[in-house]
Amino acid sequence: MTEFLRELPKCEHHVHLEGTLEPSLLFQLAERNNITLPSNFPASVAACNERYNNFADLQDFLDHYYVGMSVLIKEDDFYDLAMEYFKRAHADGCVHSEVFFDPQGHVERGIPIHTVVSGFERACKDANEKLGTTNKLIMCLLRHLPAADGLQTIASAAPYYQAGVIHGLGLDSAEKPFPPELFTDCYKTLKDQFPHVNLTAHAGEEGDHTYVTNSLNKLNVTRIDHGVNSQHSDELMAHLAENQVMLSLCPMSNVKLQVVKDVSELPIRKFLDAGVPFSINSDDPAYFGGYILDNYIHVHTRFGFTPKEWTKVVLNGINGSWCDEHRKAELR
Ligand code: ADE
Ligand code: ZN
Repeated sequence: MTEFLRELPKCEHHVHLEGTLEPSLLFQLAERNNITLPSNFPASVAACNERYNNFADLQDFLDHYYVGMSVLIKEDDFYDLAMEYFKRAHADGCVHSEVFFDPQGHVERGIPIHTVVSGFERACKDANEKLGTTNKLIMCLLRHLPAADGLQTIASAAPYYQAGVIHGLGLDSAEKPFPPELFTDCYKTLKDQFPHVNLTAHAGEEGDHTYVTNSLNKLNVTRIDHGVNSQHSDELMAHLAENQVMLSLCPMSNVKLQVVKDVSELPIRKFLDAGVPFSINSDDPAYFGGYILDNYIHVHTRFGFTPKEWTKVVLNGINGSWCDEHRKAELR
């Protein structure tokens, strides 16, 4: 079955490039850049892996994730990080990736946005040329920072949206204390300036279903990242199905961040039966113990989808991607 799942033309829509920072690369970059990690940071690859098995919740993970990314300094670091992910995803049979990054997490440490975007852009190009995969960059705003900071970030990223280097906008970090409506201005400002930009937001991971509804209504997103708590509103479920709003689900992440105890508790069968489209993704694979194929395998062992059902899931992923129709036709 693993080979069948590997061969499926999978699209990944929910992976944070900073969340692909494997402990081995993290320590290598710390040495290369003379970074001293805080004394409470795990001191070895093994200690990291131990820590990654014990996240109490999203915030506990984020506290570690923001320290981890402090080893990324030079353009080559961002390139190496992204290229490692593209190679891993390709080996898993992932043909198209739409990848998040958090510029504010770097700019606030004094790293120019240009360094970040240039490294990632170069990796996207190389992955396309060397591996044949297609890739899109989605800039995320950190919701624990003020919207004014988000507006500044959008202004500084404008040249990259203009040039088509960045394709989308997302919203991540601590969800519950920072509801989507705080960022209405940010989303509107970017969309007014670049009408073709694609919009998404993390919602309904720890927040309830109103976070999903408000992301759709207030931010005008066309996709929802996570969205598992949509299951608690029949009206919302019907809306998602009718409008084919895709949820980018992250099964192993939901277990590691204590959203559920086991993948079997996720409403994946419910979404499939209700016609709510979803894709299956890795979120922060270096931290959550598995890349895209591992997530497919987890879903398969719990839900036992038939080949026909898998074909439907994969087609929904292609249809929900932000690549052009020509590329979608190639992938189908
Ligand atoms: N940033 C990285 N991973 C995240 C997640 N699962 N939820 C919110 N913000 C994130
Ligand atoms: Zn995420």
